[in-house]
Amino acid sequence: MNASDLSRLIPAARDGKPTFVIRDARVVNVFTNEITETNVAIAGDTIIGVGNYSCEHEYNAHGAYLAPGLIDAHVHIESSMVIPASFAQILLPKGTTTIIADPHEIANVAGVEGLRAILALSKGLPLDIRFMLPSCVPATPFEHSGATLSAADLAPFLNEPNVLGLGEVMDYPSVVAGAPEMLDKLACCDGRPIDGHAPMLTGRALNAYCLAGPRTDHECSNFRELKEKLRNGMVILIRMGSAANGVLEMLDGIVAENLPTDRICFCTDDKHLENIRSEGHINHIINVAISRGIRPLDALKMATIHPATAYGLKRVGAIAPGYRANMILFDDLHTIEPKLVFANGVPVDPDAPIPSPAVPDAVKNSVHAAPVDERRLQLRARTFMPVIETVPKQLVTRLVHREVPTDENGNFAARDGLNKLAVVERHHATGNVGVGIVDGLNIRGGAIGATVSHDSHNIVVAGDNDPDMLKAIETLKRCGGGFTVVSHGEVKALLELPVAGLMSDAPVETVLEKQRALLDAARALGTRDDCDPLILLSFLALPVIPEVRLTDCGLFDVSAMSFLYQN
Ligand SMILES: [Fe+2]
Repeated sequence: MNASDLSRLIPAARDGKPTFVIRDARVVNVFTNEITETNVAIAGDTIIGVGNYSCEHEYNAHGAYLAPGLIDAHVHIESSMVIPASFAQILLPKGTTTIIADPHEIANVAGVEGLRAILALSKGLPLDIRFMLPSCVPATPFEHSGATLSAADLAPFLNEPNVLGLGEVMDYPSVVAGAPEMLDKLACCDGRPIDGHAPMLTGRALNAYCLAGPRTDHECSNFRELKEKLRNGMVILIRMGSAANGVLEMLDGIVAENLPTDRICFCTDDKHLENIRSEGHINHIINVAISRGIRPLDALKMATIHPATAYGLKRVGAIAPGYRANMILFDDLHTIEPKLVFANGVPVDPDAPIPSPAVPDAVKNSVHAAPVDERRLQLRARTFMPVIETVPKQLVTRLVHREVPTDENGNFAARDGLNKLAVVERHHATGNVGVGIVDGLNIRGGAIGATVSHDSHNIVVAGDNDPDMLKAIETLKRCGGGFTVVSHGEVKALLELPVAGLMSDAPVETVLEKQRALLDAARALGTRDDCDPLILLSFLALPVIPEVRLTDCGLFDVSAMSFLYQN
């Protein structure tokens, strides 16, 4: 806060001159664990006091609970497939008023220009967006992404007011091995928040990792892991987004052992629009935590003051003088459904579209793939070919070897439930195409393609015939990226994602409608209904999730960290 803000706010607080008052609310105090029926005074976007205040503009809460706005401690905006303004429009009515975002998806496509773009797109929104700088771009050396980010690339962004520190350090083997490029990135963010990402890391390796700087972890999948990481000084972010491994067991363990919760926060990581709309956001995790026996005030603090403290956010996470007037109003302390949300002191209208800053040119037209023809999709069959077998309801895959059907030229022919999978490099038109075989998608009479393909976001396409796969690739190239379903030469559904091939700047309702149409079209091709085939497809090229993945370089055995074959 600068001197001119202070010279305006101090007299307003001292002399009782707010611009807006929320009257007769049961106000949650996260410092004392009290709930007090009182008034909250606001001047502009700032809370100036709690107590005996009144003014011309008042909102009567009629005894409803008033708590600080909720904080998502770790999220990737791009996973929602909409730009920050649209994301804000979905999140604010659910009570989330601050997010800590890691923009590593757009950074993998557009590097520093991508970072600049997402910072620009987040300016001036009623949602408070803070950033952690992507630490692992590209995610692995086994694929080609759009960019590489070094410590020197990241350093200038540390001067940006909304940049907090270093984002999830997924490449934990490099940290534990002391790889110099990784150490440079850690050193450049020394003294700032550094997010960890170390699934199942334990013992001395975990000690080495913690010593290197990462101070949070959102990858715990059981209580024992959570406790070891807490002991080592990490702040645990319990994740419930589209992935939610072991959350109930961890919550039950916290309750059973009466663990202190001041170093435990909540995050969504990745959660899709439709799910946020239907289920809720951070408020949903709070409600699950309460249902497992976490005390309501403790659960609220895990989504407000604790993440604010962990990330050094000074004026967020509490209802007290000098804090930003981000608050949620709700009736039931055990099931938190915000009925009104205040963002920067202004009541949020869920139906009012939030205007977005212009999309920078640097992240438009991001699909640059060399021409692909049927020959590039051929895969010479051998006895017992390696096949990617999907696992119901999970992102992990199994590596199996099968005798596969062939055509008259001895190439793999996609039939008998086996689909062809291709990953086409789309950033620098290198002409790299990886081709593999996938079991479990069950596509019949068509193809599904996407430019959302973690983490390098090349074009990934699966199908049972080459012409439809090629049509899907061409369609995505023409529209600047997105998702498409093609059948018998016809585009059955298309969601254009013109911002880096990852996000749409269309109205939220349009995006939701197109997402539903895509899913319907994919189901019409015979895909199983126990998983979302579009999400499954978008993870088949990520060579950090076991056991086998296809990248633009070839088929990769994640357990062995080596290629089964390269194209
Ligand atoms: Fe993440």
